[in-house]
Amino acid sequence: MIKIAPSILAADLLKIKEEVINVDNAGAEYMHIDIMDGHYVPNISFGPNMVKGIRSITKKILDVHLMISPVQPYIQEFIKSGSDIISFHPETTDNPLKVINSIKKEGCKTGIAVHPKVKVEDITDFLSDIDLVVVMTVVPGFGGQKFLHDQVYKIHKLREFRKSRKLNFEIEIDGGINKETSKICIDNGADVLVAGSYIYNSPAQNYKKLIDAIR
Ligand code: DX5
Ligand code: ZN
Repeated sequence: MIKIAPSILAADLLKIKEEVINVDNAGAEYMHIDIMDGHYVPNISFGPNMVKGIRSITKKILDVHLMISPVQPYIQEFIKSGSDIISFHPETTDNPLKVINSIKKEGCKTGIAVHPKVKVEDITDFLSDIDLVVVMTVVPGFGGQKFLHDQVYKIHKLREFRKSRKLNFEIEIDGGINKETSKICIDNGADVLVAGSYIYNSPAQNYKKLIDAIR
């Protein structure tokens, strides 16, 4: 079954505990936490404290998406905060393999996030060392943007690559997921769907129904 990762970037931060518990109870498998530094992306969100806080209220998988540059100096802090998976953008370091290894050696899972400008070919060298590929279907930085259909081929390409090389990484899609775009992603080979505004900014507010609709 496809896994759902609500992005708390779109949640009401004044009610963050309730917002996390609600999607947890509604059956979300991962909690997607977007970390933005105002440098790699033109927006600032949360730091390791947010991960630590969320760790204390849920047993679900904490799927931390780092949009920070340089990334290496912050890895230890995010591991200590209770992350289960840490994904980073390879262009935020001059040694992606070193970042991967520093995440793995602490027993944490590793992901590579693929900016719309980055090609699948640019990351194939890392695919045997990682657990997750995050295909960005928006330009990273903000929630609530429109799904970029011209990124869908990457999902398919990654699925084929995984099959031909007998690899195991999961394919996660991040950005602009709703009832319609989720179907396209699933048909092309997605394993995990991130959804921020579709879940948290919907007038329906029935998280279980919204999660089921994108599954
Ligand atoms: C964008 C973030 C996404 C974002 C998704 O930079 O990485 O995770 O929160 O939000 P929606 O689902 O609203 O596009
Ligand atoms: Zn994200």
